[in-house]
Amino acid sequence: MVFQSPFPPYDPTDKSGFSYETVAKRWPVILTSIVDQLHRENHDLYLRPPIDDSDDSDSAHWEEESLRVEAKITEGKAIIEKVGKLKYEMARDHVMEPIPMDGEPHVDFYNSELENLAKASKDTWFKAPWLYAECYLYRLLRSYFVQTTHWKDYDPFHAQKLDVFAKSGASIYGIAKIMHELESEKGALESNPSKLKVFFQEMIQMCLWGNATDLSLLTHMSLVDIEKLQSVGKEMQAARKEFIMRDDQEKAWEYLTTVKNGRVDFVLDNAGFELFTDLVLADFLVTYTPYVSTVVFHPKLIPWFVSDVTPPDFNETIACLLRPTSLFTTSSSSLLPSPEQQQHLRKLAERLKQYVSEGVFAMSVPGGTGLGGGLTTTAPTTAITTTTTMVMTTTATTTHSLAEFWTAPVPYWDIETYDRELWEFLRGSDLVVFKGDLNYRKLTGDIKWPSWTSFEEALGPLAGSFPLLSLRTNKADVAVGLDKEVLMQIEEKDANWRVNGRFALISFLGKRG
Ligand code: F6P
Ligand code: MG
Repeated sequence: MVFQSPFPPYDPTDKSGFSYETVAKRWPVILTSIVDQLHRENHDLYLRPPIDDSDDSDSAHWEEESLRVEAKITEGKAIIEKVGKLKYEMARDHVMEPIPMDGEPHVDFYNSELENLAKASKDTWFKAPWLYAECYLYRLLRSYFVQTTHWKDYDPFHAQKLDVFAKSGASIYGIAKIMHELESEKGALESNPSKLKVFFQEMIQMCLWGNATDLSLLTHMSLVDIEKLQSVGKEMQAARKEFIMRDDQEKAWEYLTTVKNGRVDFVLDNAGFELFTDLVLADFLVTYTPYVSTVVFHPKLIPWFVSDVTPPDFNETIACLLRPTSLFTTSSSSLLPSPEQQQHLRKLAERLKQYVSEGVFAMSVPGGTGLGGGLTTTAPTTAITTTTTMVMTTTATTTHSLAEFWTAPVPYWDIETYDRELWEFLRGSDLVVFKGDLNYRKLTGDIKWPSWTSFEEALGPLAGSFPLLSLRTNKADVAVGLDKEVLMQIEEKDANWRVNGRFALISFLGKRG
């Protein structure tokens, strides 16, 4: 029996809501960006220089390779057509088609929900609940790629993710400097936990605002805008404090100080800069506090909501941090970072890498997991173990994965019902940090709670299952746990506070019993 919410979900039938704007304006832009990206890829394939065919065996190889390229281009064109058709149908509020049986998880899950929606005449783009339709969109897109031979491992958002990451150099070097300075404080911090708390709050806020740099909202931002959003100086943080509409940092800290050598889980959101801030918060907790000794990162198995972290993104981020000069640019000039800056980042990146190789940091799936959950041969293969089972072995490619649930189209209320193994795994955590807006929407079901509803009530049956911290900048209508007075003030200050990414919520709830 799954939780029945007392209010309806957000959907685009309300034209004044953000979901309407998303379906009408933002999804078409995202679909167009996929088409453009595929055109670029196909174009590059056309232009690929022919391989030298000077002897017989090379000539056979050349023929094989040109056939492969030709087949890939043909498949690429077919995906472009499908995405174009989808965009056409979306704009005309067509019925959403069942997801084809493509061999990847959740097809039945999505399709049976679609059948339920059809019974209520809500199975079209402008009538379906926003949360369902948005998850369906990314799952459907995945099916277009996974049904091909040559594009199965292709992430149509990868280039965008990398591009924004490359523009985050200024903030990344800034944060690396803060972490460098922290090293000289290590002794003082050990003997003075109140100082530790000050740094904890700085780290939490850095990680919180790291969520503001989200690709799906960034399409028209310049490099200077991005740097402004990501800036991490003390003054900037103080200025932003008034934009945190609910702030449970104190509660979270109080709880954390009761933990000893614990495990923290991050249910990740976006790749690139935001993931970097997650890694830095995790580094802080492990390196400087006695409270945490391991961290598990939960990525998505398929390209998700444009910018979310996949296992290959996770590995790539660490690799990029280890060779930053080839990636990062800043707005101030094309000057290379100073040797000092480079040294700060190198030290940090090497520590992160070491934590990964020692298993202090691990993903919830083996390190060599590719898109869709299969294993690639080249990447590392550390696997998380639970007390009872090896969740995913390094040889099987289709076993149940702890990462599958995150791309299902349902709220987190019922993790226990839908994915007992994941729920039990999270129960073993000392703190589960949910990053970003979509995770917040799923935690609260994306339904029309009055905003003064308690966070606990909005979590439904999940409340109290494990200690939970949500760090979210507001990019969708749902918001709970707010004071009526705060609400009135904010409405006056900025009518768009729910969706414009300038405001944020830090929500904490402990474990029951
Ligand atoms: O459509 C806007 C949107 O894509 C929301 O659906 C989603 O909640 C958010 O942006 C993505 O933000 P985040 O990356 O913080 O989850
Ligand atoms: Mg995201």
